[in-house]
Amino acid sequence: MKKEIIDNFGRKHNYLRISLTDRCNLRCFYCMPEEGIELTENAKIMSLEEIISIAKTFVELGVDTIRLTGGEPLIRKDFGYLVKKLADLGVTLKLTTNGIVLDKYLDLFKEVGLKKINLSLDTLDKARSIFITKRDYFDRIMLNLKKSLEYGMEVKLNVVLIKGVNNMEINDFIELTKNKNLAVKFIEFMPFKGNKWDWNKGVSKEDILQTIASKFGKIEKLEDAKNSTSLNYKVEGFEGSFGIVSTITSPFCEGCNRIRLTVDGKMKNCLFAISEADLLTPFREGANIANLIMDSIKTKKYSRDGMNVTMDAEHYEKNRSMISIGG
Ligand code: GTP
Ligand code: 5AD
Ligand code: SF4
Repeated sequence: MKKEIIDNFGRKHNYLRISLTDRCNLRCFYCMPEEGIELTENAKIMSLEEIISIAKTFVELGVDTIRLTGGEPLIRKDFGYLVKKLADLGVTLKLTTNGIVLDKYLDLFKEVGLKKINLSLDTLDKARSIFITKRDYFDRIMLNLKKSLEYGMEVKLNVVLIKGVNNMEINDFIELTKNKNLAVKFIEFMPFKGNKWDWNKGVSKEDILQTIASKFGKIEKLEDAKNSTSLNYKVEGFEGSFGIVSTITSPFCEGCNRIRLTVDGKMKNCLFAISEADLLTPFREGANIANLIMDSIKTKKYSRDGMNVTMDAEHYEKNRSMISIGG
């Protein structure tokens, strides 16, 4: 019988997010703690062959979609080799990137059929980009966005909204969707270890919708895929669309189909999960990790690892920093 990774709530997990590195060439304040993070030492990082073998086990258990994340996944050494090998597993490959070195890989992505690229772009203003990322790569990122679209990639822009920082740009992003088949994803600010989360700085789904409606008028609700983490819409008559990832004000855990694999080979069953199952150590010892995966999924909680509406700091400060989860 076909194997499936099913949790105690009957949710089938067919989507794996693999973090390829906990390093990044940007320093976005909402993701990377000001004091930095303790980077995983090399001996504890999954090698490329280990990633491929562990991913293969997940595929044998029914995973059909793999998203590569980081830190910044494209700075992982021999990224190109890894992508080719993962594509050979016959899964839908997706990527979340900050876009700085994206141009280097567009030909390869075309070759292996990787089309779905989520690009983190919180602002369309260069000075603000430098403020948010603490680095000056804005022009390169914008150029790579343009190139990716020319290559026919399905690009979604990820915009983490922070009050007083970039919420005044919501409608500028919507303008981009007028004549382009581009999707913009507005993301509610989420709490992780060391990111000084405060919901007073967050922008809610309702606020986002109101801001857009007040300028553009009628908003059309689109149908969402069963496992979608975003509620999707479009402005009537516009070619592109927009989505809202409303983890704080309207969580969407009912259809969760996601598992994460951290750079040090831990299986993480929820973005907010504190406990993780070590797969890499047993893998290195020659154990059968399929059983460990099946056991671990049974420990998954229904929503946000059990956090209630107030998002408890006692809880999320025990989680990793976002830079080492990868979203
Ligand atoms: P798709 O694979 O197209 O659904 O993309 P995605 O939106 O899941 O991926 P991406 O890496 O672009 O993440 C965009 C935002 O969604 C980030 O802020 C992620 O942290 C958040 N996100 C991704 N997966 C989950 C999830 O399972 N739960 C929650 N709460 N947020 C998630
Ligand atoms: N809240 C919401 N989204 C975040 N991301 C990083 N940190 C946070 C946070 N605190 C987003 C990034 C990236 C995606 C992987 O996660 O912008 O696009
Ligand atoms: Fe799944 Fe956790 Fe995200 Fe909810 S918060 S959708 S349970 S990963």
